[in-house]
Amino acid sequence: MIHCQQVSVVYPNGTRALSDVDLHIERGEFAFVTGASGSGKSTLLKLVYRDIAPTEGKVIVDGQDVAKLPPRRVPYLRRKVGVVFQDFRLLPDKPVWENVGFTLDVLGSSRREKYHKVPLALELVGLSSKTEAYPSELSAGEQQRVCIARSLVNMPPVLLADEPTGNLDPAMSWDIVQLLDDIAQRGTTVLVASHDQNIVDRLGKRVIQLVQGVVVRDGKDGGRYDAT
Ligand SMILES: Nc1ncnc2c1ncn2[C@@H]1O[C@H](COP(=O)(O)OP(=O)(O)O)[C@@H](O)[C@H]1O
Ligand SMILES: [Mg+2]
Repeated sequence: MIHCQQVSVVYPNGTRALSDVDLHIERGEFAFVTGASGSGKSTLLKLVYRDIAPTEGKVIVDGQDVAKLPPRRVPYLRRKVGVVFQDFRLLPDKPVWENVGFTLDVLGSSRREKYHKVPLALELVGLSSKTEAYPSELSAGEQQRVCIARSLVNMPPVLLADEPTGNLDPAMSWDIVQLLDDIAQRGTTVLVASHDQNIVDRLGKRVIQLVQGVVVRDGKDGGRYDAT
């Protein structure tokens, strides 16, 4: 579902953020991307939702070479890739159901489709009882669930999450990571950038570890990379 072939990213200021990354993530797989701050985790995710293009190599998402997409086709790729961020980015003056329905508004979905899909997405994340609440009335963990519902409401095949637990306490973090794992088990390909080593180790899923833009480990062994 996500394939990186010999991918490097050099930002315009000369910073090399990724070097020779080769990755293959299958449909329905769950994988963490870990590494210290500045190791290239967000850059890797940005390639997949075509926020940036690779300097060298190929990034293929659902069979499409993202660098070859003309600008007018980028929105079609974005429909296939839901993204969740650390800082939620909810609309503060809209209730939960409108925050989730917003994704469908942007895609030009009908009202009928919205009334059908929004409750399903909220049920999936366990927030059926909070549809009328405003973001400020929710806990941080609930707000992150709204974000996940918002990114899943149009049922994209790929879900990316960049430090989704960065603003959550350990118990909430664990709930969110389990929810993301459930979502993968329903067939969505889920890629989660996180430097939270406890969570990563505890879930026991595939871990892709970056050190200064290089993949130093890729596996389910759960063992930590030893820099020495
Ligand atoms: N837009 C940018 N322009 C220049 N350098 C950047 C940009 N974004 C990130 N970087 C640099 O690229 C490297 C990787 O950053 P990033 O992918 O954000 O890492 P992480 O998410 O693991 O913290 C860092 O050295 C960072 O400073
Ligand atoms: Mg980052």
